[in-house]
Amino acid sequence: MIYCPRVKRIGILISGRGSNMVALADAAHDGRIPGAEIALVISNIETAAGLERARERGIETVFLSHQGKTREEHDRAMAQELRRRDVELICLAGYMRLLSSWFIREFETRILNIHPSLLPAFPGLNAQKQALDYGVKLTGCTVHMVDEELDHGPIVKQAVVSVLPDDTVESLAARILIEEHRIYPEAVALLVSGKYKIEGRRIVEC
Ligand code: GRF
Repeated sequence: MIYCPRVKRIGILISGRGSNMVALADAAHDGRIPGAEIALVISNIETAAGLERARERGIETVFLSHQGKTREEHDRAMAQELRRRDVELICLAGYMRLLSSWFIREFETRILNIHPSLLPAFPGLNAQKQALDYGVKLTGCTVHMVDEELDHGPIVKQAVVSVLPDDTVESLAARILIEEHRIYPEAVALLVSGKYKIEGRRIVEC
């Protein structure tokens, strides 16, 4: 008998251009995330460029406005869409809203985020500007599990990027983005493979 492991279905939440979503979709399509399929892309912004980029790739998209709803009401609506498609792993890719505690508990250890700094340095908005203003020589990006604190959960992957003397926020962000597109698919592949353990805050590959 041949054992066919079930494909893990991934949902991606976006609010904007969606370049990390594209990186994940292309990696899943090319077989770089074995056993994974992008089942759904949800945006809270109707004009998010990423929605069109997902549709061009044949991925189902849903626009769910957060306006006029409490945070939890909006998140419950997202959860319903995700569950309807049997999504097991949720990737935040430039999703510009905080998630409710309800949503985070509901999908505990099954939500990933990418952040453009070496956490725990420079959480929150404008991480690349924060790094430049602080004068660090090295920064980078982090893929982490989402917990109830901002940009805080267990770290899955990180990549280091040098800050160059003539860097602007834009040039630094562009070099970090290249690394984001590399490590996010790697992190998702690790989670889909199941070859890891969570020991406190540490994610140990095994
Ligand atoms: C990325 O820099 C990501 O690290 C941060 O938001 C940005 C989203 O960019 N969380 P994109 O929409 O994936 O192009």
